[in-house]
Amino acid sequence: MNANDLPGEGASLWLETTEETDYGSLETGVDVDVAIVGGGIAGLSTAAELMDSEKTVAVLEADRVCSGVTARTTAKLTSQHGLKYDRIRSRFGRERARQYAAANEAAIETVAERATTIDCDFRRRPAYTYVSDENDRKDVRREVDAARSVGLPASFVEEVPTVSDAVAGVRFDDQAQFHPRKYLLGVAEEIAAGGCDIFEGTRVTDVRPGSPCEVETEGGTVTATDVVLASHFPILDPAGYFARNYPKRSYVLAVRTRDPKPEGMFYRSGEPYFSVRQHETEGESFLLVGGQNHKTGQGGSTADRYRALEREARRRFDVEEVAYRWSTQDYRSVDGMPFVGRAAPWRKHVYVATGFGGWGMSGGIAAGRVLAEEIAGDGSEWADAFDPGRLPPLSDLPSLAGENANVGKRFVEDWVSKPSKAGASLARGEARVVREDGTPVAEYRDDGGERHRVSAVCPHLKCVVAWNDAEKSWDCPCHGSRFDYDGTLLGGPAVRDLQKE
Ligand SMILES: Cc1cc2nc3c(=O)[nH]c(=O)nc-3n(C[C@H](O)[C@H](O)[C@H](O)COP(=O)(O)OP(=O)(O)OC[C@H]3O[C@@H](n4cnc5c(N)ncnc54)[C@H](O)[C@@H]3O)c2cc1C
Ligand code: FES
Repeated sequence: MNANDLPGEGASLWLETTEETDYGSLETGVDVDVAIVGGGIAGLSTAAELMDSEKTVAVLEADRVCSGVTARTTAKLTSQHGLKYDRIRSRFGRERARQYAAANEAAIETVAERATTIDCDFRRRPAYTYVSDENDRKDVRREVDAARSVGLPASFVEEVPTVSDAVAGVRFDDQAQFHPRKYLLGVAEEIAAGGCDIFEGTRVTDVRPGSPCEVETEGGTVTATDVVLASHFPILDPAGYFARNYPKRSYVLAVRTRDPKPEGMFYRSGEPYFSVRQHETEGESFLLVGGQNHKTGQGGSTADRYRALEREARRRFDVEEVAYRWSTQDYRSVDGMPFVGRAAPWRKHVYVATGFGGWGMSGGIAAGRVLAEEIAGDGSEWADAFDPGRLPPLSDLPSLAGENANVGKRFVEDWVSKPSKAGASLARGEARVVREDGTPVAEYRDDGGERHRVSAVCPHLKCVVAWNDAEKSWDCPCHGSRFDYDGTLLGGPAVRDLQKE
């Protein structure tokens, strides 16, 4: 089957139902109190929280605000993040679980409050995480106990609406869903009106910590007392985030169904997860189904992932049509907690927000509050739960070692494996890695017949990239950098394009 023959239109529902923004680019140097790199949910939420302070703020966005991962999420706004609280409690203790719960519950209320003035399809819904294996029932019981012990509205359920294969689940009440772009474009308007500078089409190329910090962009240098790296993966990595955070891609379909759509948010825990929720926008109702997650660059055919997701959607619902499909990736820390706070103990004025592990809607909003309070010098009551300087608990050391061993294995195997023979013919729409003079070269022949050749060596730490047939990109299996078929950088840790051949 051809990789072009995929279900639905390749576009995110959130981007399709909102206007493109048009904030200008930075054209000359500016001086602000706080420079925020990245205009996704973490960056814009930080800017919004800082509006109550006296500080001058600039958001520097390489592309358009809310056009990255946040534009391709499923936008469940919950403190329920799979089976999370028992894990936090056993690894870090009840107090950190309480902080994590409180920060994410507060994020829901932040959106609820703003939704009185920003039309963002905000709806209160219960959230369910369920298991389909009888052996996992005890995990659900422990999760309910852990969640309730930190004040969350959790209950144990034997049945989950519309899910026939659930054997047990945890239900959280008073959770929410929203339209992330309607919400964040509204936030951007509000903060711009309040004096925050938003620069789009302004890629940050370097950050030099100091007093003040210097933030280099293509349009000029920004000097700032404090810098927030909210670029999804931090573009400056002083504390080895690439080795403590690993990227996972997953896939979403927005489908039209004949049967009534379930009013709730549903998540089957485990690998791969399966997620469902309804969304009504612009007079149309969709069911969003998500899943098929895998480590970036290590999932085989990504086109097959969409097909598998469509099969699962059709098996469970009376699908009339797949309207849209999209995919994106999020970084997950080895211990499952985000990194939000000072980027490194020795970098007093540089902050990060990363590692949301697939739950950065409430996580990104909570990060905004934590960072604004830290920058204001007040300290945040939730800081410990998100502390980027924490040591992983002993029980997580094997998975830390495992993730890094996986990277090492990919590095070695991909360099020594026998790639396809250079010179052999390459059909339209096909891609491969060949070896020329010992160096891997990535080749793709587009549908028009033009051949694109770039180095297959990722500029970050020199792993060999892998073809993503659905998105027509080269994805790095080590730490998740992505490049367009012509080598243009789509997302870091790498900060440069693949070299043209
Ligand atoms: C398929 C999928 C579904 C998900 N569903 C949910 C969900 O239902 N609920 C939930 O809570 N979470 C969900 N998540 C997770 C959530 O979407 C993310 O955690 C969150 O969007 C991350 O936001 P961010 O602001 O960190 O990143 P982004 O939204 O990617 O923002 C970062 C911004 O930085 C910019 N940038 C990057 N480099 C530079 C640079 N050098 N200079 C300037 N700008 C730069 C980018 O262009 C981008 O706009 C999901 C994740 C996936 C993969
Ligand atoms: S992202 Fe690290 S080597 Fe490619």
